[in-house]
Amino acid sequence: MKVLVTGGAGFIGSHTCVELLENGHEVVVVDNLSNSSEKSLERVKELTGKDFAFYKGDILDDELLNKIFKENDIDCCIHFAGLKAVGESVAKPWEYYNNNISGTLNLVKVMKENGCKNIIFSSSATVYGDPQEIPITENCPKGQCTNPYGWTKSMLEQILMDIYNSDKEWNIILLRYFNPIGAHKSGRIGENPNGIPNNLMPYITQVAVGKLEKLGVFGNDYDTPDGTGVRDYIHVVDLAKGHVKALKKIEENAGLNIYNLGTGQGYSVLDIVKNFEEATGVKIPYVIKERRPGDIATSYCNPDKAYKELGWKAENGIKEMCADSWNWQKNNPKGYEE
Ligand code: NAD
Ligand code: WQD
Repeated sequence: MKVLVTGGAGFIGSHTCVELLENGHEVVVVDNLSNSSEKSLERVKELTGKDFAFYKGDILDDELLNKIFKENDIDCCIHFAGLKAVGESVAKPWEYYNNNISGTLNLVKVMKENGCKNIIFSSSATVYGDPQEIPITENCPKGQCTNPYGWTKSMLEQILMDIYNSDKEWNIILLRYFNPIGAHKSGRIGENPNGIPNNLMPYITQVAVGKLEKLGVFGNDYDTPDGTGVRDYIHVVDLAKGHVKALKKIEENAGLNIYNLGTGQGYSVLDIVKNFEEATGVKIPYVIKERRPGDIATSYCNPDKAYKELGWKAENGIKEMCADSWNWQKNNPKGYEE
């Protein structure tokens, strides 16, 4: 298939481009590089030995999107483009709603005008809020989000479901990612956050590389085995492979589908520190801090539906996730900056 990958220069997008190209698909990337570097795409080309078109620009720009559709016979969009920093979304709600919601509405409008009604959307475990069941299945009711970022994902799911209900020619897959970490085995592409990382693993790797002094553990009085927050970390390459499987489902004209993408295993913050140290031999000093507002105690999924219906399951364990995150960081201490 020929796939338009929005946000393809980003962390998950770049890894997905590699897997798509290696599985015989063609890709076209649109990205405004607001949170990424074009270097990731050069490295995707280097890793796969394949070339593809890159359009630097914004999904809010419908002239550009129309041009992309006119110049390429796109079969499906994998839609990663979006702003994703939880804290920033609280400070800049308008920017988040505009970029994520208006951007997606614009994309879907241009897709429809050009006769493309196949989309795979990057949703998030955040739509479950404080989940009503653990492990979380896709039947678990959606919950209250604690920040505008989370609401954009929840609202976009609803918007895409309503679009499907109005026109059953659409094939729509909502993928709810749990906590993606890790990097391509080559160490050539990986996560490249701007400024001080908000998420656990990039914070740990920056401590390991000496850019940050110590990890702050946000709370040790949760109702979890060691008191620290428990999450379902998933290797980004496994996540990327989930998109290749989802594309196969789209080819079957499967209508609307929702899948959790996680491993089904929960690890606490201290488990991650311990596994990172064991996998890399690098010590991570840490200090216990206050709970971070909006955090929940536990989130991990039941990934059976994706296995049954897509034939997908995560293959990498926590040690590989830690080792690959570290391999990327130590080989690229400044990310994509030289
Ligand atoms: P990322 O920031 O690395 O990638 C997103 C990409 O989209 C960036 O390259 C950015 O430049 C681009 N972008 C943003 N707004 C754009 C716009 N208006 N027009 C064109 N390009 C635009 O993030 P990621 O971690 O790769 O996440 C990809 C998607 O998955 C996002 O939608 C994110 O919300 C979602 N998601 C991420 C996680 C996670 O923990 N990383 C978890 C669940 C869901
Ligand atoms: C994991 C655990 C923290 C940093 C976020 C978004 C979610 C999704 C994935 C996009 C928690 C603890 C963290 C640190 C810490 N993104 N922690 N010290 O919060 O599960 O999910 O990213 O959709 O929407 O909310 O991930 O990596 O920030 O935190 O102790 O410096 O690590 O409290 O328990 P989170 P995270």
